[in-house]
Amino acid sequence: MLTPTTFGTPLSKSALRVLLLGSGELGKELAIAFMRIGVEVHAADRYQNAPAQQVAHYSHTLDMTNGEQVAILVKKIRPHFIVPEIEAIATETLEKIAASSQVTVIPTAHATRLTMDREGIRRLAAEKLGIPTSRYLFATGKEQMRQAVEKIGLPCIVKPVMSSSGKGQSLIKSPEEIDCAWNYALEGGRGDSQGRVIVEQLVDFDYEITLLTVRSLDAQTGQTITSFCQPIGHRQEHGDYQESWQPAPMGSEVLSKAQDIAEKVTSALGGRGLFGVELFICGDEVLFSEVSPRPHDTGMVTMVTGYLSEFELHARAILGLPVDTRLRTPGASAVISGTTQSSAPVYRGLAKALSLPEVDIRLFGKPDCRPGRRMGVALARGNDIPQALNRAKEAARSITVEDA
Ligand SMILES: Nc1ncnc2c1ncn2[C@@H]1O[C@H](COP(=O)(O)OP(=O)(O)OP(=O)(O)O)[C@@H](O)[C@H]1O
Ligand SMILES: [Mg+2]
Repeated sequence: MLTPTTFGTPLSKSALRVLLLGSGELGKELAIAFMRIGVEVHAADRYQNAPAQQVAHYSHTLDMTNGEQVAILVKKIRPHFIVPEIEAIATETLEKIAASSQVTVIPTAHATRLTMDREGIRRLAAEKLGIPTSRYLFATGKEQMRQAVEKIGLPCIVKPVMSSSGKGQSLIKSPEEIDCAWNYALEGGRGDSQGRVIVEQLVDFDYEITLLTVRSLDAQTGQTITSFCQPIGHRQEHGDYQESWQPAPMGSEVLSKAQDIAEKVTSALGGRGLFGVELFICGDEVLFSEVSPRPHDTGMVTMVTGYLSEFELHARAILGLPVDTRLRTPGASAVISGTTQSSAPVYRGLAKALSLPEVDIRLFGKPDCRPGRRMGVALARGNDIPQALNRAKEAARSITVEDA
């Protein structure tokens, strides 16, 4: 993979070019992090005026699941790095591009393919690396799913193999709910899921964390090293995160187990960059759930808690620069969700939210609002987690999203 020794000038022939595949709120912060160190940023998404496109040097709109369109774009831009921001992209094409050209796919093309599909990453973690996970079975079609549900036992969770943010995911408590769960999975899965689902035992965890794990170059030895941010706690509703906080209080032994798992999974995926490793904690047991080979939504809290945010960490690690994962102060985040349909949303209450102590706000600038869509996030520092969380939640509550 490329490790730049010089950094050029954007919009000139010396530019170091990064292509973001996916331009949501996480991509927007990542674009800004790259731009602060003089990188030329190309932001691609399937719709126009996506958050990262509004700040990048260039924006491109295409169907990122279409391999041909992705290949044409890459040929045109000739990026040094391709940085996926979402899972729904033509990962097979990325593997071909990575094999036949100089461009580096982050963290690796193979890792983006494995993690776009719950089956690839679950089999790698549980079956190849022997890492503890919930009990699970994969199934194709309703009949196989029914059998899998019987074997796993109730209650269990069904998820399409390809989906994110809780889409198509349901909890089954009684056999009558199987049909409904099947239809929901079929609707919520991305096109390429083709009726394949994972049936997972419902884990009665004490709490869940995201462990941001960074694979970066050590300036002294030139070797790839792994470092960890403090664990992030979060609360999910319908498979979508509502609040997160850092550091999540946990004992040193269970934290070291979590780090051990995160190191194993991320080194198996390889490459450089930041990963969001999702883990369930049950007493002193740690179960691996899944991993994003990129910044994580619950990690937006690092914009107020870290010496470097998860976006700056990702950008630095990609470019082969040193990182610093230390926590500066406890903090929390609370999402600002849409409640109405609008193609020109307006935000009310910003001044009130920002009058709260130690609070900051990000409004993503998404062109369309829908009920439940994440439109912004409130961030807060505090002396401790309860204080930070109360501030973040109050700030988020102060802001309303309305139709113009
Ligand atoms: N087997 C399980 N047992 C208990 N809770 C679960 C299980 N699987 C998922 N959950 C809950 O649902 C949430 C979302 O699940 P998961 O991360 O697998 O879905 P996702 O659609 O990929 O979400 P995202 O993309 O937002 O991370 C988890 O963070 C957890 O709170
Ligand atoms: Mg998840």
